[in-house]
Amino acid sequence: MDLPRDEVGAAYLGDPRNDENLVVAQLHTVFLRLHNAFRDQGKTFAQAQKLCRWHYQWLIVHDFLPRIVGPDLVQRLVVAKDGVLTADAAFYKPRNLSKPYIPVEYSVAAYRYGHSMIRAEYEVQDGHTVPIFGRDGDEDLRGNRPIPENLWIDWNYFFDIPGVEPPDDRNMARKIDTQISLPLATLPPTVVAPTAGAIVALAERNLLRGKRLGLPAGQDVATAMGVAPLTNAQLGLSGGGWNKKAPLWYYVLKEAELGGGNRLGAVGGRIVAEVVLGLLAADKTSYFNANPGFDPGSTFRVGDLILMAGAFDERGRVTPDPTAPEPVPNPVAEAPEPDPAAVDPLPGPV
Ligand code: HEM
Repeated sequence: MDLPRDEVGAAYLGDPRNDENLVVAQLHTVFLRLHNAFRDQGKTFAQAQKLCRWHYQWLIVHDFLPRIVGPDLVQRLVVAKDGVLTADAAFYKPRNLSKPYIPVEYSVAAYRYGHSMIRAEYEVQDGHTVPIFGRDGDEDLRGNRPIPENLWIDWNYFFDIPGVEPPDDRNMARKIDTQISLPLATLPPTVVAPTAGAIVALAERNLLRGKRLGLPAGQDVATAMGVAPLTNAQLGLSGGGWNKKAPLWYYVLKEAELGGGNRLGAVGGRIVAEVVLGLLAADKTSYFNANPGFDPGSTFRVGDLILMAGAFDERGRVTPDPTAPEPVPNPVAEAPEPDPAAVDPLPGPV
């Protein structure tokens, strides 16, 4: 199953970045198929579009955000008011609600937390592990091309699929911390156009982008939010660069790391939660406004959406062998695998 493409292989997408790698591209096809599943049920195009969005938005509020910023913050921010749901945001308050925007603190720092979660390789199906970026000619997960038949995704390796036995080695996201996998230090030409002097290290791009856009330092954002800023010793900084303060992206990663790396900390979590929920509140067509009672069921998760879309490839169904001995629980298999290819994005004092 592939994205619809033109004659040169370019996907028809609102945002070409959804074709940046074969995992994201195939996740996008899940949403296309969800839309088609609603159409097959007799919904109009507009109804199918709306239902796709509401299911996605509901998962962001009830599954994704609680994992990334913590359930307490989400619960505090989402409030019912005047018959709709809204965001009780202290900092993200677009003046013109019909023209909401994405603040640079979000796009250039806080939401780039995801760069530290990317693995060097992913098991796409049982026993088939593929690097995110390989050398030219080698098999890898680079996108911007038709999806090769043998690189179909077994979603059971990424999400809990109801009714399907989980594999013992599901791909775990890396921790949110100041380590970043090695392939992201040399981005391929499908990600960064190969112009003279192009910066191919993602960490360097993030830090320079923040500098060029004049982002405030992490400590300054913390202070403005009324959060006690981390000290340079806590941040692991010793040099005098960056006005002796931490770039916001680094700060967000470090505060998450100090909290265990499973979710964002006080500053990063607040920025991400307020912006995402604030945008939902500003969008008159979101379920917050158009259908605040929308509820696909409290246990609804991405795996349910994949099944609902008819997008679970039956080749991925792990059928337990009834003659096999009872597996012994292995606590190590539960923990994210340390990635040997991890490097510090900011080696040395900053
Ligand atoms: C293989 C995975 C990924 C690659 C190769 C990648 C690569 C990139 C690159 C090259 C940029 C532009 C950098 C610049 O020039 O400033 C970028 C921007 C960005 N990335 Fe990623 N990224 C990946 C995954 C993620 C994830 C998982 C997240 C969040 C969860 C994320 C969030 C962002 C954001 C918010 C921006 C800024 C977008 C904008 O300003 O429009 N990325 N990424």
